[in-house]
Amino acid sequence: MPRPLKISASVLAADLGRLGEEIERIDSAGADWIHLDVMDGHFVPNISFGAPVIGRARDRTKKPFDVHLMIAPADPYLAAFAEAGADTISVHAEAGPHLDRSLEMIRKLGKRAGVAINPATPASAIEHVLDRVDLVLVMTVNPGFGGQAFIPGTLEKIRRVKALVAGRDIDIEVDGGIGPETAAAAVSAGANVLVAGAALFRGGADLYAENVKALRRAAETAIGRVA
Ligand code: DX5
Ligand code: ZN
Repeated sequence: MPRPLKISASVLAADLGRLGEEIERIDSAGADWIHLDVMDGHFVPNISFGAPVIGRARDRTKKPFDVHLMIAPADPYLAAFAEAGADTISVHAEAGPHLDRSLEMIRKLGKRAGVAINPATPASAIEHVLDRVDLVLVMTVNPGFGGQAFIPGTLEKIRRVKALVAGRDIDIEVDGGIGPETAAAAVSAGANVLVAGAALFRGGADLYAENVKALRRAAETAIGRVA
């Protein structure tokens, strides 16, 4: 049985001055999860927002908050993100020396634990933490900015991650440059959670539902093809 397909909307591409409204709009447009990109200007060359902003937006939707931490260190802030209402918290394998501990902390906080890996990081980086994770986030661009082009070489890594996961109860998420075409390739390679920013928030709020539908249709068609 393939894992259910989820579309996680990255609000980095939304109008952040109206974050609450944008979350409501993309929720009613049909997104499954809300993806929140936290950047520190140190682990990645950009700064976005932190736990207080996420906490203020929490009551705008009942959909899961999928929090992607691009910060180093991450451990001192995990409790704050849990309190802010995160459902899944993903830390980067490259962000600290004690990945196993970070993942254990996230689960102890009662949250789903995710491990993210950059394009240059091998799939084997997750091999020894598989019993500690609920989600593997394969970056399909270098983290830091929305609207970048998908890196095709990451497809092979998605296949390897899928093989390592070997049927465990773990989501495989892709993030960066995901639109209808690249989504088809990513799900064919084994991904079941699609993060998308630019592809969902383009064209104004009237088009959000159409954008979500186009992405879902492309992915479902591709899954039909591989099933
Ligand atoms: C990049 C972020 C992504 C980004 C995706 O560092 O992790 O979540 O917002 O944006 P798009 O879909 O526009 O590439
Ligand atoms: Zn992200």
